[in-house]
Amino acid sequence: MSEYLPGLAGVPATQSNISEIDGDNGLLSYRGYAIEELAANSSFEETTLLLLDGCLPKPAELDEFKQQLVDNRRLKFTTRGMMKNLPPNGHPMDMLQTVVASLGMYNPNIDCLIGGSACNDINYIHNTTVKIMARVSSIVAMWQHIRNGYDPVGPRDDLSYAENFLYMFTGKEPDPMLARIMDVCLILHAEHTINASTFATLVNASTLASPFSVIAAAIGALSGPLHGGANQRVLEMLQEIGHVDKVEEYIDTKLANKEVIWGMGHREYKTKDPRATILQGLVNQFIEDRGGNVNPMFELAKVVEEVCEDRLGSKGVYANVDFYSGILYAEMGIPADQFTTIFAISRTVGWLAHWREQLADNRIFRPTQVYTGVDRRPYVPMEQR
Ligand code: COA
Repeated sequence: MSEYLPGLAGVPATQSNISEIDGDNGLLSYRGYAIEELAANSSFEETTLLLLDGCLPKPAELDEFKQQLVDNRRLKFTTRGMMKNLPPNGHPMDMLQTVVASLGMYNPNIDCLIGGSACNDINYIHNTTVKIMARVSSIVAMWQHIRNGYDPVGPRDDLSYAENFLYMFTGKEPDPMLARIMDVCLILHAEHTINASTFATLVNASTLASPFSVIAAAIGALSGPLHGGANQRVLEMLQEIGHVDKVEEYIDTKLANKEVIWGMGHREYKTKDPRATILQGLVNQFIEDRGGNVNPMFELAKVVEEVCEDRLGSKGVYANVDFYSGILYAEMGIPADQFTTIFAISRTVGWLAHWREQLADNRIFRPTQVYTGVDRRPYVPMEQR
């Protein structure tokens, strides 16, 4: 019998050519392209095509894809009506999972997934991908208004994916620099090898479930505090610390009490998470752009990172992607309980890429277990118990 490893730690669950992490050297690449180059030069739409198709698109291909996304941003009034009947105090991730699953009701035809090669119908695969990608951001943005009792803001055809999301979410013309930062945040979170939600994607995809169901399952996996959600806690931690003078005492007390510092450490990286380095650069650019006239949280975060590096660096614990994303989202007017939904919008790309990869060479997941229960025994009649 093979050895049981809790959480399948270190056990390869699939073969994939979508992304690669080199945790010792702090490197991440999508389809062979370094994350730093994509963050500096690409757009979320282009990175999406790269992750889905495996190569950078030609200009006409990218234009066509952008137009397809624009054409699919609207939600049916029945979907909006359903959202208006959801409890406003529910967690946005539960809302997102519910609404994405409900989209499958409008797209019931999954027969094309059945057969020798489930990936034969590339039109179905592409059209479904566009529908899901375009609608997840509309759902999240519209929920922000609906849960506060207002009608949602409709999409605008002249805006990019990131700009339109911010416009629909806040109802205001997006600040160009913050929109570019959002675009980079979406690129950075789009894919990260086989994590819990991507594994959930593979398991669901392998049953040939509808892609709406597959993505809803992945959203459910991401909603747990051990996966998405650390950036919300980073923001709360910074608010609790309150002032740069209190940082050292706060961190030292937490460490003495064996508590974790949110936004620090990563199972895969033993250096600083390369995505955190990119976000830190954007924070610095933003502070410079605003002439230093920014929320004191930014300065506070930098000091917290310095102190943590001093105390935890020797253990290979450095800032992760969640450390700076929360304060940037807050600056965009996004409340903390919507941070994980933004993660989900972005990671939907990675999930869809893995869905396609799984379908192209599918075998249903059916792992085994190590039974630890009692031996076989006779049934005990009620009166003898
Ligand atoms: N704060 C304080 N200490 C930390 C730490 C953190 N955030 N992350 C790791 N450490 C310490 C551990 O306590 C351990 O110390 P020890 O050797 O003295 O016992 C050492 O660093 C090694 O950490 P380990 O628990 O082996 O790391 P891991 O790979 O199991 O954990 C995380 C990775 C992400 C679960 C962990 O770093 C963590 O909880 N981080 C905070 C939550 C977070 O930001 N999550 C988002 C990840 S993108």
